[in-house]
Amino acid sequence: MSQPATHNLPNAAPAPLGWDVRRIRGDFPILRETVQGKPLVYLDNAASSQKPRSVIDRVQRYYERENANIHRGVHLLSEKATEEYEHARSKLQHFINAKEAREIVFVRGATEAINLVAMTYGLKNFKAGDEILITNLEHHSNIVPWQMLCERTGAILKVVPINDAGELLLDEFEKLLTEKTKIVAVNHVSNGLGTINPIKWIIDKAHAKGVLVLIDGAQSVPHLKVDVQALDCDFFVFSGHKLFGPTGIGVLYAKAALLEAMPPYQGGGDMISAVTFEKTTYNVIPYKFEAGTPNIAGTIGLGAAVDYLNSICFGGAAAYEHELLEYGTGLLSEIPGLRIVGTAKEKASVLSFVMGEIHPHDIGTVLDLEGVAIRTGHHCNMPLMKRLGLPATARASMAFYNTKEELDVLARALRKVIEVFG
Ligand code: ALA
Repeated sequence: MSQPATHNLPNAAPAPLGWDVRRIRGDFPILRETVQGKPLVYLDNAASSQKPRSVIDRVQRYYERENANIHRGVHLLSEKATEEYEHARSKLQHFINAKEAREIVFVRGATEAINLVAMTYGLKNFKAGDEILITNLEHHSNIVPWQMLCERTGAILKVVPINDAGELLLDEFEKLLTEKTKIVAVNHVSNGLGTINPIKWIIDKAHAKGVLVLIDGAQSVPHLKVDVQALDCDFFVFSGHKLFGPTGIGVLYAKAALLEAMPPYQGGGDMISAVTFEKTTYNVIPYKFEAGTPNIAGTIGLGAAVDYLNSICFGGAAAYEHELLEYGTGLLSEIPGLRIVGTAKEKASVLSFVMGEIHPHDIGTVLDLEGVAIRTGHHCNMPLMKRLGLPATARASMAFYNTKEELDVLARALRKVIEVFG
């Protein structure tokens, strides 16, 4: 088997020198908050990231001074809102290096994007016996829409297994990729374990057999620079709220030819060209997939998040976060009875762990009293938890505004957990 030659952190700066985390933190008002009387230590970035002042201000300015519906009015406010909405589309296009702005469809988030692909492309093209290839690392949002499609079409879900470190078994992937496979749907970064998957290698293997690939980038775009043309993926999805933008907005990227051939997802305003009671013709892409008044404020806010990332030299973030990951891994490894879950060679800044018989929810509760926010539970990864033989884990997930001092606070709080429950 030809293994991927290198890990896929090509855009990480060589060293985090000059990453001025103090200055960056100043851009995020919430990081000055206290919780439970303690300074907030926010380590739940894989669930949702915090917003810089510029994003908050941009959404407020839209509502205070620019609010109007888009693509509908001749009045100035509507024209201005339309312009800003479409400007955000072009910012997102450049952010992931899509070839054309019309390849960017605004949706509610990664979940809606995957459902859209399953229920339009999938329903149109899949038949009984066709296979959909996912992996044991997927979030429920990259499992359930495909199961729903299988129920409707008779297609079959196949799953690439993982090793105990949380890495995909690539030789198994190659065996499962057959002439029956119609699509491969895989995450770029696992939300539960932080594994960075070799997606370029996967895409090339799939394309060599004529199979389309959907990448769930929800956990990768906030950490790694993504170039959809270099990847040559067919679909790429992500959520705005994990990318330092507002909730309720996300992106489906798809190659234009695919979007052109796909039927619409929802019917309503804006997605039509002409309507009569006898027949409706549909708008051009991307509008064909944006029925109803969209999340205008969210879209403009997401555009502001991209502006922010461009302004801070985002390429340096991955290297800084890697340093945090290594520091945190070292600290947690010294805590008696703590086991890190997910030890892939290529990892994003996620530390999942268990502490003997102590339930992760109890860990999370003690940490909360110390001002430390983490996520506990199955992380919408129930099949992954089953594979690992665990009901749940505790998960600390870092962003480029976190510090080593905050990881020290986490480690001290974990020692308190042992005092209370150990
Ligand atoms: N998918 C998000 C997480 O991993 C919500 O926490």
